[in-house]
Amino acid sequence: KMWVMEQQTQEEQQAAIQEAADLLHDGCTVAFPTETVYGLGADATSTAAVERIFAAKGRPSDNPLIVHIAERKQVKELVADCPFLAEQLMDACWPGPLTLVLPVREGAVSNRVTTGLGTVGIRMPDHALALQLIQASGRPIAAPSANRSGRPSPTRAAHVLEDLGGRIAGIVDGGATGVGVESTVVEVKGDHIHVLRPGGITVSMLRSFTPNVTIDPAVDPERALSKLMQSQSPEPAASKEPDQTAMLAPRSPGMKYTHYAPKGKLQLVQGASDIAVSAYILEDLRRAKQQGEKTGVLAFAEHVGRYQADVVVELGSLTQLEQGAHRLYDALRHFDEEGATYILAETCSYEGMGLALMNRLLKAAGHHVIVIAD
Ligand code: TXA
Ligand code: MG
Repeated sequence: KMWVMEQQTQEEQQAAIQEAADLLHDGCTVAFPTETVYGLGADATSTAAVERIFAAKGRPSDNPLIVHIAERKQVKELVADCPFLAEQLMDACWPGPLTLVLPVREGAVSNRVTTGLGTVGIRMPDHALALQLIQASGRPIAAPSANRSGRPSPTRAAHVLEDLGGRIAGIVDGGATGVGVESTVVEVKGDHIHVLRPGGITVSMLRSFTPNVTIDPAVDPERALSKLMQSQSPEPAASKEPDQTAMLAPRSPGMKYTHYAPKGKLQLVQGASDIAVSAYILEDLRRAKQQGEKTGVLAFAEHVGRYQADVVVELGSLTQLEQGAHRLYDALRHFDEEGATYILAETCSYEGMGLALMNRLLKAAGHHVIVIAD
């Protein structure tokens, strides 16, 4: 069942939320919007309910789920210990795109949520419909992104329907999401923040709480790309196989799977000068087209006019990487809809939202990067 919330009266919205919340309360799965991406929710305290999430998504069972809450007082019901720094982060960033991984209170949620790690990821989403739904369900709500495993995360209800239609009990349609990439996931121990997944809360924001912030090497695009650069031969246009970074065992289990991938072959093109990158992209797309590929390009506003391809998608300005994050997953799905088979993408800096955007782009490309020698 799809509840479309746009242009509904307050009463109609409330009735829809109650209906969806009752389904959650009864152990069914319901997709709902958050400020990042759509989530597929289920009662985190019920193993049977949580199993429905894994089944609907085709999700590997060793990948833990984030628990969504509507009120701060739910934290102490879920965690065994909450460092002062974690409290400060909650004060400043919630509701918002920050997930905190903390020691789980024994028996507070199903073991299928934590996959037996001894920790639980918790976040309070910054979306009125999500908060109302969680509140009305009277439960902590486990919710991964509402896509089939391996597909780009959904930023619109239509994406959820495309991936999970017929496999879940309902979808609350709240329009397009804002941030567009998933929450920042951090582990907090004492006065140390370890970033397991970059997202809407940037590293520089985290550094304003403590200088003691580290990024898990497995999700650090800067590290991945500098390794590629080092191993690059002087010949341009050599596409590299995934480097060791992809093989490291990430602390956040979900980061090890190929996610977000479009169906066509996607490669990133990186180089010291944007002119050289553009010249390469233009030429390689021409060659691919001659070989019968349906070509695609993913480029920033400043350069997009340089390209010719069957499918051209603009990621917004290089000076506003929030736009790129907001559009990325819709763009990846668009290439699929148009049947693009060979796609090249530009890269961007790792500053601010750039870190999350580059992390997702690298994953979508399966770490295939073409490094241009100048
Ligand atoms: O923005 C978001 O976080 C979205 C919306 C729906 O809230 N949710 C989301 O969930 O992205 P999911 O399941 O697609 O990603 C959860 C990530 C995975 O990489 C998972 O491995 C990690 O968080 N995670 C969850 N619990 C964890 C834990 N206890 N320890 C380490 N990593 C954990
Ligand atoms: Mg996901």
